Amino acid sequence: MSFDLIIRGGRAILPGGEQVADIGVRDGRIATISDLTNASATTNIDATGKLVLPGCIDPHTHMGIPIRDTWSADDFASGSKAAAFGGTTTILDFTVQKADQSLRSALDERLELAQGKCHVDYGIHVNITDQPHKRLHEIAPLVDAGFNSFKVFTTYKEAGMMLPWPSLAPVLAEIDAADGLLMMHAEEDEIVTQLTARHLDAGHTAPIFHARSRSVDAEAHAIERAALIAGDIGARLYIVHLSSKAGLEAALRARAHGVDILIETCPHYLLLDESCYLRPNGHWWITTPPLRMEEDVDALWRAVENGDIDAIGTDHCPFTVAQKDRYHGAFDKTPNGIPGVENRFPLLYSYGVTTGRISLTRLVELLSTNVARIFGIDHRKGSLAVGQDADIVVWDPAGEMLVSAENQLGNADWTPYEGLTQRGSLTATVLRGQILVHNGQWHGEDSFGDLITTR
Ligand code: URP
Ligand code: ZN
Ligand code: ZN
Repeated sequence: MSFDLIIRGGRAILPGGEQVADIGVRDGRIATISDLTNASATTNIDATGKLVLPGCIDPHTHMGIPIRDTWSADDFASGSKAAAFGGTTTILDFTVQKADQSLRSALDERLELAQGKCHVDYGIHVNITDQPHKRLHEIAPLVDAGFNSFKVFTTYKEAGMMLPWPSLAPVLAEIDAADGLLMMHAEEDEIVTQLTARHLDAGHTAPIFHARSRSVDAEAHAIERAALIAGDIGARLYIVHLSSKAGLEAALRARAHGVDILIETCPHYLLLDESCYLRPNGHWWITTPPLRMEEDVDALWRAVENGDIDAIGTDHCPFTVAQKDRYHGAFDKTPNGIPGVENRFPLLYSYGVTTGRISLTRLVELLSTNVARIFGIDHRKGSLAVGQDADIVVWDPAGEMLVSAENQLGNADWTPYEGLTQRGSLTATVLRGQILVHNGQWHGEDSFGDLITTR
């Protein structure tokens, strides 16, 4: 028996639980998970004493998107390389729909930016931000073409991105009928607009007023309102980047009433809180929804632990210090978004698994298995099983290091996680059998990433 690659003797996180096993890879797929002591391979990775898990899938990244008067600092090339160094083998990004542009044309533009540049596999969610009523007939053909996830915003009116509430029912009904999934950025714009105006009128432009203007009530109210509509239609709804206890409770109330609601949160809502806005460069942490209070962080961790939260995405949307500093910290002008694509597995392993909060199996569900299932790519991704793409992460649990801007790979020249402790380090990231990263070095064939569509 001969293989292209054998990962030998690691503690593999398999669908049935953890097991010491060898993983044999042939033609980019997992060919066997068994004892391969007597088998040979072109390449071997010794994973003795290390953790072996399915490649992580980030359901929420923004590579090179326009925000306010600038662009997020990573493109598909830089952001995807950073992702690979953090154990992520697939990113799911979003289209940017221009005024009067068809959904298909926006998708084609985005695919063009990713093709031949992305170092990990990628999928694209379709944003519906302009004239939703004119786009309804475009939804089913996109689902048929393998793009089944759509996203709307209940805020960002000033940027022309907001879905007016009366449009939600027809959009959701159309997506549901086509067997697609609606993702929602849930913040009630009216509340945000009023609070923002109140703080600006009072001359309050400091970063903490970002949190005060985008209240937890704004998130909870939007979720409640959307869930009522989803419940009426009987459609599934995916809430992106849930940030607050109040928002969580609104989603769980809807779920208790039978609404099929899925919840995503992000590492920054689990690892950071609004005290970041009081730091000397507090405006760097401006992201939307804002960082919250300790009680929100605790509630989200409990939901991660007990299974109420379905997925964790990064909402990676980095800006450099120069971009963040341009408006001298004014909360209403600073571009919103923070980096994180390379920190998701390392930090959630460190602060979730090694602290005993969650098992490694649960972390794998949140970062890979559930994401693949929710977005319809589980025929290829999301678990260590024979026939799946050989997307594999080997993690050495020994040792620790401090996260610092100096050891980050993305284009942001700072990290929101500066000073946090990472326990363990990445030994290897493998994408479809190709070693991308090994012992801290890039080994990958450049731009090996492929478009992944639903089956
Ligand atoms: O502030 C953020 N999160 N920027 C990216 C766009 C979004 O709302 O996810
Ligand atoms: Zn958002
Ligand atoms: Zn986002």
